[in-house]
Parts: sequence; structure tokens; C-alpha cells
Amino acid sequence: TKADPAKGQQIVQQVCVACHGADGNSSAPINPNLAGQHPEYLFKQLKAFKENKLRKNPTMFGMTATLTEDDMRNVSAYLSQQKPKVLEGSKPDLQELGKKIYKVGNPATGLPACAACHGPKGGGMPAQFPRLGGQHAEYTITQLNAFRKGERANDPGETMRQIALKMTDKEIEAVSNYLVGL
Ligand code: HEM
Ligand code: HEM
Repeated sequence: TKADPAKGQQIVQQVCVACHGADGNSSAPINPNLAGQHPEYLFKQLKAFKENKLRKNPTMFGMTATLTEDDMRNVSAYLSQQKPKVLEGSKPDLQELGKKIYKVGNPATGLPACAACHGPKGGGMPAQFPRLGGQHAEYTITQLNAFRKGERANDPGETMRQIALKMTDKEIEAVSNYLVGL
């Protein structure tokens, strides 16, 4: 069956709104912005939370417990169609390093350019590669640390774990702050 964004909107505005906003633009920086994210990626993450294996988060485990696969498809369709809010880049002193990591990587440590998979403007690439632009730095830092520690492990081949393991704390902080305004 085809996804129904109107049904997804109802769920978002009743259940998810407090943390992710009525249109997927969250208010608190620990809660990810979901507006404009690729629907296939969102669906995959919702399943991962519900199964509580590859991605573990007590809050999102609870939130997905009662969602059916149709609910998850509908919610993902609705959120993907919302307009992401434009945010200002944070921490000016980290922007230059963040941009370098994003566009070039770090040849000295074999860190690849994020842009290769997440797109030159941070928009990601459907369906596998999520949009990173306009995301809260605090959330992005949490995810990169989770990949590094092996606590988040849901991409085949563990691509993001291998990448995060090559990053220093400073590089993680810099690229995450750069991405806010991208
Ligand atoms: C993460 C959807 C309700 C807090 C996520 C992600 C999705 C999602 C798709 C992953 C985003 C990504 O990978 O970029 C939803 C939906 C909800 C809902 C559809 C309603 C049915 C809530 C509520 C809260 C919340 C009510 C707060 C009480 C969080 C947090 C994360 C998250 C803290 C990050 C988890 C982590 O670090 O892995 N949510 N959410 N969500 N959500 Fe929700
Ligand atoms: C997911 C950051 C490079 C492939 C993610 C996420 C972040 C991230 C924060 C999670 C997004 C979210 O939760 O909303 C970065 C950074 C990079 C980088 C900072 C550069 C240092 C790459 C490269 C590839 C890649 C080069 C491809 C070879 C992926 C994939 C996912 C992902 C497939 C989805 C994982 C899943 O389904 O859970 N990345 N990335 N990334 N990234 Fe990257």
C-alpha cells in the first residue's frame, strides 16, 4: 500500500510533537530534526528502534512499540515532506575545521570526506544516506559517539563505525557544528 502522509501527520502531532515538533523541526538540540529527511532512512531507523537491537534508545523504543509498519511508513512520508528550518551555524571557531572534515576528510588519518555520501550540501542521497545539514550539533555528536562505541550499528558493513573510529573528539565537535548551518 502507498504511504498516507495525512495519517502520518496525525501521529506526529499527537505523539511525537513534544520532542520533534509538529512539522519535524525539533526545539531541543538532543532531539533530532526530522523534517526533509529521506523517508526510507526514517522508516529504517523507526524499525531499528522498535527491534531494540541495532539502535537502542529507551525513549524511541517506547515510542515505536505501538507503531505498525504502516504507521511508520505514513509518519516517514509526512516528515520527509516537511520543510527543514534554516539554522545558523554555531561556534565560529570550529567552522573552518568542520568544513574541511566535511568536504575533504583528513588524508593523514584516512578519514573520508563526508560529502562523498552525504552530498555536497548535506542533503544526503536517497535512499541510504541521511541528510545531515540543519541538524543540531548535540544530536550529531551523540550519534558519532554512538557509532564509535559500537552502540549504534545499523548500516551494513558498519561504514559509519569505521568512519567515526577515525575521528578525534575535536573533529567530531567541529563537523557537527559546521553541519548546523549547512
Ligand atoms: C530519534 C521519530 C517521538 C526523542 C528519532 C529518530 C526518528 C524518530 C526517526 C531517528 C532520527 C535520525 O536517525 O536522524 C519519532 C517519531 C515519534 C517520536 C515518529 C512519534 C511516534 C519522540 C518523543 C521523544 C523523542 C516523544 C521524546 C520524549 C527522540 C530522541 C532521539 C530520537 C532523544 C535520538 C535517539 C538517539 O540518540 O539515538 N525519533 N520520534 N522521540 N527521538 Fe523520536
Ligand atoms: C549516517 C555523519 C561520512 C554513510 C550518518 C549519521 C551521521 C553521519 C551523524 C547519522 C545521521 C542521523 O542520525 O540522522 C558522517 C560524517 C562523515 C560521514 C560526520 C564524515 C566524517 C560518511 C561516508 C559514508 C557514510 C563517507 C559512505 C561511505 C552513512 C550511512 C548512514 C550514515 C549509510 C546511515 C546509517 C544508518 O542507516 O544508520 N553519518 N558521515 N557516511 N552515514 Fe555518515
